[in-house]
Amino acid sequence: MALRWTNTLTRDDVTPEAVFLNRRQILAGLGAGAMTGLSAPAQAQAGLEPNDWDDITSYCNYYEFGTGKSDPSKNAHMLTTSPWTVTIDGLVERPGDYALEDILSQMTIEERIYRFRCVEAWSMVVPWNGFELADLLDLAGVKPGANYVAFETVYRPEEMPGTRFPVLDWPYVEGLRLDEARHPLTIMATGLYGRDLPNQNGAPLRLVVPWKYGFKSIKSVVRITLTEDEPPASWNRANPREYGFYSNVNPNVDHPRWSQATERKIGAGLFARRQPTLMFNGYEEDVAALYKGMDLAEFF
Ligand code: MTE
Repeated sequence: MALRWTNTLTRDDVTPEAVFLNRRQILAGLGAGAMTGLSAPAQAQAGLEPNDWDDITSYCNYYEFGTGKSDPSKNAHMLTTSPWTVTIDGLVERPGDYALEDILSQMTIEERIYRFRCVEAWSMVVPWNGFELADLLDLAGVKPGANYVAFETVYRPEEMPGTRFPVLDWPYVEGLRLDEARHPLTIMATGLYGRDLPNQNGAPLRLVVPWKYGFKSIKSVVRITLTEDEPPASWNRANPREYGFYSNVNPNVDHPRWSQATERKIGAGLFARRQPTLMFNGYEEDVAALYKGMDLAEFF
């Protein structure tokens, strides 16, 4: 936590890979080198061409604002995102309500480019910025005995027209195992292209777990609870046969209703070739150890 948060980056700062890598080296030099432990493939992913701002902000899933891909971009402006408080509770040393401003003032700035694939077999490459979830957990101090991290999205029916429909059990909830949550690739995103996160993408604070399907990336988080037992996850609760708790990107396990072996990059054009989906979304070298000895067809 050597650097204080600033949010003055522009799109130009993050788009060219050279600038991106250079910035990371500068950060590493300042003692904030959280990326240095990551493998070459994960770093190489930074070289992927990011989707443009319009694709990322107009093709969204945020059912609290409607189930159509363009509904969130039309409706999410209704959500008040400032001030914002995150309650951190459960098995932590310092439970309480944390103002987002206070959290950010203690965080190291991080920008990365993540490949982001969703269960609909589409993918996007998104230059998120944010901070590592592990740093936030350390602020609150995880107690021994905690095995999982539970997350909850804000629930405000008056600002979220989609919650009038019982598509899911509101509020939207998600969970990670503690070691997944502490992995350096797991971030809390607060921005895109160095700008503030648009509401439809989960402002002001959303989870990003790049080796899992997109639905694990819970938006507009207001509560984080450290638990002993596996917490509920919205899609798993809605349809446990189709959506497992782990939800790792695994092309070898088909969704019961469609294949997940290939994906199509959004914005690549209608006739772009589908590409094979990579195990753990291409982050196998970084995260496979988390699942050693687990049968990933059983724990899907
Ligand atoms: N979080 C909440 N609160 N509500 C949602 O409907 N949809 C999930 C996830 N987080 C969702 C959510 C799904 S299915 C996906 S694919 C990603 O958000 C999409 O994130 P994006 O719109 O920023 O691409």
